[in-house]
This record gives sequence, structure tokens and C-alpha cells, in this order.
Amino acid sequence: MPPASLYIHVPFCARRCPYCDFAVSVNGRAEFRAAYLEALQLELKTQLSGTSAHLKTIFCGGGTPTELSAAQLNSILDTVRAHATVAPDAEVSLEANPENLSRETLRELHEGGWNRLSLGAQSFDDTTLRFLGRAHDGARIERVVHEAREEGWTNISLDLIYGAPAQTLEMWRSTLERAVELNVPHVSAYSLTVETGTALGQRAAKGTFRALDDDHLADRMDVASELLEHAGLERYEVSNWARLGQECRHNQNYWRGGSYFAAGCGAHGHFDGERFWNERDTKIYVRRIISDGTARVETERLTPNERLVERLATGLRTREGVALNEGETKLLQPTLASLCKMGLLKYDAEHLKPEKTGFALADGLASRLIGHIL
Ligand SMILES: C[S@@+](CC[C@H](N)C(=O)[O-])C[C@H]1O[C@@H](n2cnc3c(N)ncnc32)[C@H](O)[C@@H]1O
Ligand code: SF4
Repeated sequence: MPPASLYIHVPFCARRCPYCDFAVSVNGRAEFRAAYLEALQLELKTQLSGTSAHLKTIFCGGGTPTELSAAQLNSILDTVRAHATVAPDAEVSLEANPENLSRETLRELHEGGWNRLSLGAQSFDDTTLRFLGRAHDGARIERVVHEAREEGWTNISLDLIYGAPAQTLEMWRSTLERAVELNVPHVSAYSLTVETGTALGQRAAKGTFRALDDDHLADRMDVASELLEHAGLERYEVSNWARLGQECRHNQNYWRGGSYFAAGCGAHGHFDGERFWNERDTKIYVRRIISDGTARVETERLTPNERLVERLATGLRTREGVALNEGETKLLQPTLASLCKMGLLKYDAEHLKPEKTGFALADGLASRLIGHIL
């Protein structure tokens, strides 16, 4: 069976945020962006044609996909539809930044078939937004969400970041309250990660920036859960909350260890039992697609145990947990039984799930279980 999910990477950004380590290009030249688009479409055609793929989820992430015009983004979907069928109820997500999203763009994109908007809000308070180097303010997020609704978007998600030192617990609470007031069906809340090689990483190395300690971060996580759950959004993954039925199906497929096509620079895919990843540099990606028809830099085939390790690492961060067969269950004993006894995990009908208290410890639980396999 070919994968039913597709990830598409658009690397362009107006500038690089100081904390971001994603595959990003700040090259604003129209000809370069057009060349990337052409290469991306060529890769989509090569990857999809002949596979009889029937796609149920498409996720276009970045970078900032909306640095491309709505017509360009719609042409990506047209290419996908020309080489695969797309289910009528498919989830078709697009990442976007508030600052460059006009009402007209929102209308054109929705008409073009995009139906889930993942908006990089990060925070509603302008002090934190400035610290994060963002180009929008809190009021702008609200305006974009209202305009998106008026243009027909119902499936809207906000990305938030907590842990910036200038953001007090009260400021974080007020960001969450403003997200709740907007009544969006999905919120992702990420702890600010300091990546080496980013501007923030360099500041941390020099000692001019200190990340919040674990206790303060745990407080922020607790406030997020409390407020979002009170508003009817269920925590279905460590960093993700949604109204029932509006979970991100594309990400759920990743977390279940499912397969997916992937196109674009730095994109990672998984199919035919193999994981692959593409060249990360945008210029080299374009060159390689044009000269070789592919920009893969690595392909690896995982053993069943390695696949189990991955499923545990992602699945124990989710509410639904991990489905285990009898052999896998045996392999994880006696730690599995002892974590269940401690009330951190629940094992039922060949399904291992985190208990509510286990959510905050998800990564530690997975590594204790994984210790048995590695
Ligand atoms: C790669 S960005 C792409 C979307 C869009 N360009 C934006 O900035 O919102 C996806 C999300 O990852 C999160 N993110 C990126 N770098 C992060 C970091 N170092 N720590 C925590 N979250 C991060 C942000 O919340 C962001 O919205
Ligand atoms: S966080 Fe988003 S806007 Fe900022 S550099 Fe990364 S991808 Fe671009």
C-alpha cells in the first residue's frame, strides 16, 4: 500500500528567527523561488506517479510556505492532484506566519483546496514576540484568525512557544487565554528549545541567555493543560491539544510510525520500510533535482526493534499510546509491568498508554522501556 500522507517543505522565510534550526532559506529572489517551485513539482511528480497513491493528509510546512504566492501554493496542490488521488475529506494543512497573510491570500488558498491553517502565533504578548524576533504583534494574530474564518477556514491551529525568559507565568497564562478566546480547535505549545548553531544557541554559549529551569517549564506546561482542557481542548500529545475529532491526522500518522511521502529540501520520508531524507541546502536541492531527479542524501532500513524504539518514543507522548503485539510486550518486561504498577503507564488489550501523570514524563518512560531493546 502506498503511503496516504505527504509532507511538502517550502523553506522560504523573510528572515531567520533566532531560535530556529529548520531548513530555511532567506533568499528572496523571485527567480530562485520559482526555480525551487519547479524542482519541488518535479520531485512530487517523480515520487507520486505510478504509485496509485490515495492521499488522506497533506502537510505543507516550512520555512514559511506563505512566502510563496497563493497561486504558487495552489499550483503545488494541482501537481499533487495530477499524480495522486486526494480523498474528498483529506486534511490539507498549510503553515503560515501572521504577518504576511492577507484576506485575499486566505481566500485564494481556501479556494485552491487548503483546508487546515497552522498559524505561527508563538505568543500574544509583544515583549515575548520581540524576544523571539517575530515580525507580528498579538493583535495581528487575532485579525488573521477572524479573517480566515470569514474566508471559510474552520480548522485553525495556533503554534505557541513558552519558556522565553522575558515571559512570566502570568504573561503565558494571558497568551493561553487569548488563544482560548479565539476559540480555535487546535493548539500546539512548544517549550523553547535552544539549538546549537542558532543565534540563541550562540547567546547561550556566551552566557548572555539562560533557559528557564525544568520546574518553571513544568509550571508553564501545567497552566497550558489546565486552561486548554478547561476550554474543551484535549491533550492528545505532549505538546498538542485539540477538540475531539480535530486532532492533526497528519502528525498522528507520524506518531503511529506510519509511512509518508516527502518532498522538498530537508524533507524526511518513510515508505517501503525505509526512511529517507533530502538534501537540506535549498540551492543544492534544486541543482540535484534538476541533474539527478532526486535529492536524497540518505536512506536507511530499520530493523523491527529499531522500529519499535521509534514507535515507543513517539507513541508514549500521545494519548492513544502504542499498540504492542505479544512478542513486543514480552520484550519490554519487567519494566513495563513496574511502570504500570507505579501508575505511570496503562496496559490494556495489547495497547500501552501513558496515564495522565505519565504525560510530563513521557520521554523518560520511553527511554526506560527502550533500555530493554538497545
Ligand atoms: C518551523 S516553524 C514553521 C512555521 C512558521 N514559519 C512559523 O514560524 O510559525 C514550526 C513551529 O515550530 C516551532 N519551533 C521552531 N523552532 C522552535 C524552537 N527552537 N523551540 C520551540 N519551538 C520551535 C514554532 O512554534 C513554529 O511555529
Ligand atoms: S520559526 Fe518559522 S519564520 Fe522563523 S525562521 Fe523558522 S521557519 Fe522561518
